[in-house]
Amino acid sequence: MNNPINLDTLLIADEARSLQKEDDDVINATIGSIYDNKHQFHAFETVTQSIQALPHMYPYTKPEGLLYVGDLWWEHLSKGTLSLPKKHILTLGGTGALYLLYRSVASSKDIVINAVPTWNNNYQMLEHQGVTYDTFYMFNKDNQYDLKTLKDKIDHALLHHEKVFVLINDPSHNPSGYTMKKEEWIELFQLIQSNQLKDRIFLINDMAYVDYADKNYDYFALINEHLKDLTIFMTFSGSKAFSLYGARVGMLVTVSNNLELLNEIDTKTRYIARSTYSLPSSFGFQVIEHLLKHQYNLYLKELDETKALLKSRVMVLISILEDKKIPYLPYEHGFFITVKTNQPLTVFHTLKEHKIFTIPVEYGIRFAISSLTLKDINRLEDVLNKEMFK
Ligand SMILES: Cc1ncc(COP(=O)(O)O)c(C=O)c1O
Repeated sequence: MNNPINLDTLLIADEARSLQKEDDDVINATIGSIYDNKHQFHAFETVTQSIQALPHMYPYTKPEGLLYVGDLWWEHLSKGTLSLPKKHILTLGGTGALYLLYRSVASSKDIVINAVPTWNNNYQMLEHQGVTYDTFYMFNKDNQYDLKTLKDKIDHALLHHEKVFVLINDPSHNPSGYTMKKEEWIELFQLIQSNQLKDRIFLINDMAYVDYADKNYDYFALINEHLKDLTIFMTFSGSKAFSLYGARVGMLVTVSNNLELLNEIDTKTRYIARSTYSLPSSFGFQVIEHLLKHQYNLYLKELDETKALLKSRVMVLISILEDKKIPYLPYEHGFFITVKTNQPLTVFHTLKEHKIFTIPVEYGIRFAISSLTLKDINRLEDVLNKEMFK
């Protein structure tokens, strides 16, 4: 499936960044990284201190990387509430985790089903891997995850493809900011389990923004209880979790009661890693090790402050959108919010004429609140109006 919005996010972001350096009026709502209220890159103090504390020695590790650091990271994420069998491998970012996953388990006979709007890179990644990609609109008319349409898509896909991978991006979905409710997860498990095709239907959860969600339920405990005979692949991004974008740290975790499949994916992912990029960065993982062992409570405090910063921004933006009656997708957590439109490319260009840089997505315009200052948001109040998003 072709990308309906075939623009490169990184190029748009680059243009916005360089224009903003010359003109303070430029609003850069493109970047999926956190910037402070002076448009400066946000680094966690505790991460910077961990970098400074490193031994500055980076010997070779293995293709799977420093697995014990993966254990520490997993423990921090899951807090011990998931006790099912699992395998993990350290990767080059969340992108690298998805790459290894598709490369090791998917073929041209298989299909990935994903909701739109979505992270733009999914189209490119699956095209590159030769895996068929199908999408559906994420929300039903009640603004809930449209599991009914997903079920129809799965049923149809099973007739034409061997394996069906359902790709979810939860919590703090990019680009809407939606976080699935506990009931939606349970319903999702039930609808997949009802097919009784555990060797043909798989779940992938891209959890790149997991650290920025304050959920009212324990996702890992929920998996523990409801996974049963299914297999779930989870991908994590150290870019977002630790503001370590350039260090390229990520992790792929497979959870399954199928021990044969676990061993197979373990062997295959190590082999692919070894024969493509050899091994992941030991630098980034040493930083994470130090952080989790020696700066943990302070890091959690910084993370809370960062979430509060995002929340303060999004609350102002949401109240502006509400006042102006501009419709947006349901937001719960994370870096982005999406305003609805049927003409994303036209609106993208109109906004650009007002020096506002955004990312057009399927049926919407994504605003990265992660990179917007309150001053920027106030200027948005002067410019945005309902007519623009028709
Ligand atoms: C939804 C989503 N998944 C995965 C990633 C991967 O990030 P990285 O490869 O930097 O870890 C991103 C980055 O923007 C993302 O938005």
